[in-house]
Amino acid sequence: MQAINIGLLGLGTVGGGVAEVLRDNQAEIARRLGRQINITAVCDLNAERAAQLCPQAEWVANPMDLVQRADVDIVVELFGGTGIAKEAVLNAINSGKHVVTANKKLLAEYGNEIFALAEQKNVMVQFEAAVAGGIPVIKALREGLAANRIQSIAGIINGTSNFILSEMREKGSAFKDVLAEAQRLGYAEADPTFDIEGHDAGHKITIMSALAFGTPVNFGACYLEGISRLDSRDIKYAEELGYRVKLLGITRKTDKGIELRVHPTLIPECRLLANVNGVMNAVRVQADMVGETLYYGAGAGALPTASAVVADLIDISRLITADTENRVPHLAFQPSQVQAQNFVGMDDITSSYYLRVQVTDKAGVLGTIANLLAKEGVSIEALIQKAVLDNNQAEIVILTHSTVERNVKTALRAIEALDSVGAPVTLIRMESLNG
Ligand code: HSE
Repeated sequence: MQAINIGLLGLGTVGGGVAEVLRDNQAEIARRLGRQINITAVCDLNAERAAQLCPQAEWVANPMDLVQRADVDIVVELFGGTGIAKEAVLNAINSGKHVVTANKKLLAEYGNEIFALAEQKNVMVQFEAAVAGGIPVIKALREGLAANRIQSIAGIINGTSNFILSEMREKGSAFKDVLAEAQRLGYAEADPTFDIEGHDAGHKITIMSALAFGTPVNFGACYLEGISRLDSRDIKYAEELGYRVKLLGITRKTDKGIELRVHPTLIPECRLLANVNGVMNAVRVQADMVGETLYYGAGAGALPTASAVVADLIDISRLITADTENRVPHLAFQPSQVQAQNFVGMDDITSSYYLRVQVTDKAGVLGTIANLLAKEGVSIEALIQKAVLDNNQAEIVILTHSTVERNVKTALRAIEALDSVGAPVTLIRMESLNG
């Protein structure tokens, strides 16, 4: 069979990995695919690096020229961002090229426009590498679980945050010290905002939510809360109570609509997800027929991410001659069946909560707090008094039963108004992940 020719936009970490995978595993890939995959054109600012990594490819200065070339079957977009990357992807599709991208931000924010154009032009846009790096979770959601109604997804999908939380737990260090260490090790970007404030995880869970429930992608509906305000005391107290704190991306179909959120979360230490440490990623999917499935692996890095990119190249190469209706739909459901659904605002989600309250250590304070929670129908599952601090201040840690978030927030406003309560209450959501 004729070789498949690709045009590569971007030769950074992942692009270099793609060149390496295609070079080192070419024979194995051809055994599976029945044809070769060649990089015929490459666009990167560094022409020297391009010549070194892709000696057989032609270096092209302008990405908009590359995406129109007649000798390119598939464009691989690895620029990142939503500027030139978006323009190049739309131009590639308009030129009738299939596209593979690792760009979660682009798809979470402009996926609907991109997929609609791709369907109009009869081309495929594949994006396995956009979510959880090397873990084939897009494949699982779109194909492996196609017989199910998916009920919920919970994932550790940002390696940088997971590394920081793992270190804070193991060493008891403060967030800012671990972040500095992560930057020194090259795990965290010089500007780590996207990772630590939940944007990256938000992009990924937004994409998975659309695939799970057959909705358009809707990043605007995703609640984002990162890890930068976490205190290592809360990680320690959580551990004493049998929980770990993880930054989770969560999406769930409920009677009220779809929940879509990213925030630090207490999960029981016995759960597999609680034991995913360092920069590793894991995604748990709950579905009606299969039950719980879990996908674990490297969420970043040159070769794991390239593994996902090349798998997409192989998929497209297999389906390139298939009728459009015989291809896997971009958002897992037939385009006519992708329907906007209601998203549940944070006040209306149902969760259980970890609360840490700093109080003056005197008779009756605990009772008053318990009463204010009870008034809003918030039931306490566990309550402990932690260390007595300076100035006769004590800390009370409360775990609640499952309740509507609005009720907890109303109770917290009343609690924070008490003279005996010295600081804003710390609230961390909890997930039992028990199906
Ligand atoms: N920066 C991401 C992470 C990897 O830390 O997991 C790419 O999405």
